[in-house]
Amino acid sequence: MSNIESPQNNDSIDVAFPILHGPMGEDGTVQGFLKLANIPFVGSSVLGSAVGMDKDVMKRLLRDSGIPIGKFLTFTDETEPLGFSKVVNLLGVPFFVKPANMGSSVGVGKVYDETTYQAAIELAFKFDLKIIIEEFIDGREIECSILGNRNPIASVIGEIKPRHDFYSYEAKYIDENGAELEIPARIPDVVADKAREIAIRTFKVLSAEGLGRVDMFLRQNGEVVVNEINTIPGFTKISMYPKLWEATGITYAELIDRLIQLALERFGREKKLRTSYL
Ligand SMILES: Nc1ncnc2c1ncn2[C@@H]1O[C@H](COP(=O)(O)OP(=O)(O)O)[C@@H](O)[C@H]1O
Ligand SMILES: [Mg+2]
Repeated sequence: MSNIESPQNNDSIDVAFPILHGPMGEDGTVQGFLKLANIPFVGSSVLGSAVGMDKDVMKRLLRDSGIPIGKFLTFTDETEPLGFSKVVNLLGVPFFVKPANMGSSVGVGKVYDETTYQAAIELAFKFDLKIIIEEFIDGREIECSILGNRNPIASVIGEIKPRHDFYSYEAKYIDENGAELEIPARIPDVVADKAREIAIRTFKVLSAEGLGRVDMFLRQNGEVVVNEINTIPGFTKISMYPKLWEATGITYAELIDRLIQLALERFGREKKLRTSYL
């Protein structure tokens, strides 16, 4: 229930398409602002955006639903991170240190020893008051695009082949040849089907809506492990999200039409809800 009266209609804007990455764009803040302004918008609402942004909360929900993820530890500015050898005992080595709320590999470090550990912790805490430490998953990086609200559909699977130690900020944005995309990924059909099914479950469990790209690791033994969801995936014409749809048979223009339809459909459904008891 809220006492705030949203404007009944906002004639100048039909639908907003937030294509913003990271905190204050992808984490529910802009989505909350659009809700208050009574403007339909593409993609996840406040909850799905916030959950998808926070790697700690996201992983707890996935773990709770039995979706396969790697082992992880969470620390805040109030809980001193464990020493290097204790982390190694729990997670093995190497391992990853990340700010809980970020993206684009900003603040992400791969740790091999005590020195890189201290540097990685300091770096991650520069971006968030909460950090997570994850076991290293030795696998190929595969991705699946999801589209829909209540009955979301999954695209063909794509693979990212980073030419760096991992898919770092440099590999993503600075080095032109930092990574190769393979669409569709050269993996057996049964594995692709399993990854698609896990990606749809991930999307639903995390309350995502409209669109999302689910990033996974594929271990050599065929096991699929979820890394994360991106509720506002890269959306240029050469980005993985639209390219996976293109390969599945949905063109860029049609994809945008469908996303707008989904935004309006969700808006219409929510508009029917009462916001006060009286
Ligand atoms: N647990 C892990 N095991 C192996 N590689 C990882 C792991 N976590 C992250 N990476 C590597 O780091 C990259 C960025 O990490 P990710 O969690 O996806 O952060 P972001 O949200 O910034 O994209 C991944 O694409 C992958 O290359
Ligand atoms: Mg990522």
